[in-house]
Amino acid sequence: MKPAGLFISFEGIDGAGKSTHIEALAAALRAQGRAVVLTREPGGTALAEKLRALVLNEPMDALTEALLMFAARRDHVLQVIEPALARGDVVLCDRFTDATFAYQGAGRGFDLGVLATLENWVQGVPATAPRLRQPEVTVWFDLAPETAARRLAGARVPDKFESQPQDFFARVAAGYAARLQGDPKRFLRVNADQPRDAVWAEVQAGLRERGLL
Ligand code: TMP
Repeated sequence: MKPAGLFISFEGIDGAGKSTHIEALAAALRAQGRAVVLTREPGGTALAEKLRALVLNEPMDALTEALLMFAARRDHVLQVIEPALARGDVVLCDRFTDATFAYQGAGRGFDLGVLATLENWVQGVPATAPRLRQPEVTVWFDLAPETAARRLAGARVPDKFESQPQDFFARVAAGYAARLQGDPKRFLRVNADQPRDAVWAEVQAGLRERGLL
């Protein structure tokens, strides 16, 4: 019998250090015999990667930014996420809709009600309506904006978001905290201000507790 699909997203402000843990988790799940799809937002399809290049590099207003994030997400959900879950794969997605609420909503100050409407349109799954497609678990790498800024300093040429001032990231972090409050069961909060091994141990422990690893 094929396993049930599993959708896990990973969130945090820029510099929180998600990437190595996403890869480690993919390896751990594959070692347990699971088929794993590693993907990211914005991106994950040819079209969505083109939209990513635009949204991360071109100046635009918050509505345009939000619409492009959701346009990329729609293509990604239909082309990659839904088919993978239907096959029984594990989808590990580096950022999903919580990032739009945190960055465009809390960070840029864009209307949360409009974002919620877009979320309903884009993540409505026709076959299982009226259910919204959401990750089963969202691993949130929680890190103070000052620490993230120190980590990012000089690391690479910053994109449009990475070059935002620290108070922008303080709002984004508060935006993530608000999303957690709205759906505490879905979130696995990890203290990202620790050595990498300790962060990885927390990620594994949280997923084991939920019977997912
Ligand atoms: P990444 O560097 O983690 O791949 O993320 C790309 C950037 O895009 C990151 O700075 C966060 C931002 N972003 C948004 O502003 N809204 C979104 O909906 C998503 C998915 C990412």
